[in-house]
Amino acid sequence: MCGIIAYIGQKPAHEILIRGLHRLEYRGYDSSGLTVMDKNKINTLRAVGKVDNLSEKVNDSWESKPAKEATSGIAHTRWATHGLPTEENAHPHTDNSGKISLVHNGIIENYQQLRSKLESKGYKFYSETDSEVLCNLISELYNEDIEEAVVQALKMVEGTYGIALVCSDEPERLIAARRGSPIIIGLGEKETIVASDVSALVQYTKQVIYLNDNDIVTINRDEGVTEIFDITKTHVSREVEEVDWDLGSAEKGGYEHYMLKEIFEQPEAITNTFRGRLNLDEGTAILSGLNLTPKKIVEINRVLIFACGTSLHASMLGQYFFEDYAQLPSNVNHAAEFRYRNPIVEKHTLALAISQSGETADTLAAVREAKRKGADVWGLCNVVGSTIARETERGIYLHAGPEISVASTKAFTTQVMVLLQMALKFGRCHRLSRSEGVKLCQHIESTPELIREMLKEAENIKKIALKYKDYDNCFYIGRGYMYPVALEGALKLKEISYIHAEGYHAAELKHGPIALLEESVPVIALANDVDGKDKIIGNVEECKARKSPVILTATKGDEEVKSLSDDIIWIPEASAPIAAILTTVALQLYSYYVAVARGCDVDQPRNLAKSVTVE
Ligand code: F6R
Repeated sequence: MCGIIAYIGQKPAHEILIRGLHRLEYRGYDSSGLTVMDKNKINTLRAVGKVDNLSEKVNDSWESKPAKEATSGIAHTRWATHGLPTEENAHPHTDNSGKISLVHNGIIENYQQLRSKLESKGYKFYSETDSEVLCNLISELYNEDIEEAVVQALKMVEGTYGIALVCSDEPERLIAARRGSPIIIGLGEKETIVASDVSALVQYTKQVIYLNDNDIVTINRDEGVTEIFDITKTHVSREVEEVDWDLGSAEKGGYEHYMLKEIFEQPEAITNTFRGRLNLDEGTAILSGLNLTPKKIVEINRVLIFACGTSLHASMLGQYFFEDYAQLPSNVNHAAEFRYRNPIVEKHTLALAISQSGETADTLAAVREAKRKGADVWGLCNVVGSTIARETERGIYLHAGPEISVASTKAFTTQVMVLLQMALKFGRCHRLSRSEGVKLCQHIESTPELIREMLKEAENIKKIALKYKDYDNCFYIGRGYMYPVALEGALKLKEISYIHAEGYHAAELKHGPIALLEESVPVIALANDVDGKDKIIGNVEECKARKSPVILTATKGDEEVKSLSDDIIWIPEASAPIAAILTTVALQLYSYYVAVARGCDVDQPRNLAKSVTVE
């Protein structure tokens, strides 16, 4: 989704802005632009496509110009919502007077009405965007005080925004504001960096302020953040927080792609989810973030989980864990449906929002809906300080480190791990015995080593991927714990390789999709030696009878299934929940190698965004 970076300080702004835009590239975008403030003059450049195109323009157009020495500015990566990805629609937008330049994430819902009103006053629009409307609205209300004009304009808009803007009449100031779209202020030495994402500013400072919804901030070049206030101009105080990861975590570290790096980071990421959180003597999880007594846990009589995409697949595993280990009724909901259905939230229902970014619009809306209906709402997020993390009453961080690749990998496996620990903790307050709890703790602890073993299969998986790279359709089938894994495997393949891949419950094949099976449609069957294996073998026979090539995932040493497959990916022996994680890792590698072989842009697949902050 769109990204913002803005700077005011002593250094050449364009360098910091371009570097910041590169850091935001992973979020997905189709054009970019920047404005620098050279004394009292706004200089804007915009380009369609990659940030490198913009960078080239900067070098060509501003060679030895004062713009290159300007020490404040704003920049943006745009993911098209209103209007095509063209240069006119790219940000920053400038108002008709040429004084104000603005970048905007989010959607102004009443922009059509505002635009008509402004047009009737003679304003001209050069783009199809809602953002240009906001820029001119601020301009219309401007009367020698840009801060006041922003406050008045934001009172009139409906929808969501994260904005940063500069005004040539007040070149020593930079203004930012948020409602529904994150804005973070990085406090450096004699410089301030504003960004929509910590990764764009962590290179310069780890001291940050996360703006809350409706916050507006004015930043002066010399004094930095002078005041934060809300839309009624009431002063608000926000804590300065320390970012707990560094630039290295956000770089490729020798890997060809972020996705591959993040796949290989999983042993460490998984370790971080349970470090200090397991009590092996008592066979339970600690999870101090929840701050709950067993008495309170026993009162919970249903878990409603909501999430989107990959996080939804992790949630499905969570549902199985709650049922199996804690005997707790549990339902998984598409967050987008939950918010618009009329969900029943009973007394003692726990609502659990699962989101890597903590910014997904539908998941956030579901959080708010569940709160409105009186549920206790908890969050499982990776991004510290994200909106969902802050709006939920309790929560557990994944501690997976920054996930830069658009395709989610380590967030999924860490979500599954945290859900397993929750089920363990809840289970120990119900019917799960100490010895069963101890066993589960041991399984959890063994996971990082088993993933390392799994990763050693990378070369074999690559060979299989190269054999199947040219097939344009594919099915993934699984049962039990392997069913959500099949869905996740298919999602990963389609999003990065653009192969049409469908994940199905193996039993559902016969209810329609089997009509599509033929020689040109391979089936990836998850036939690990866990519950459901016997049945899936029958399903594999059905696929073979339709001439589909079959790739199996199977437990190492399970020679019985070997003859059924054309190709086989061996998964280390493990208990069912851990086998689900290991198999996911294998399928992540498979998708990765197929996508690379097809020449796809693995880290930034077409049309996709890292955090989906619009509905
Ligand atoms: C797929 C992927 C998406 C996200 C989904 C939810 O690889 O990354 O499906 O899982 O957009 O995002 P979060 O977890 O940030 O709420």
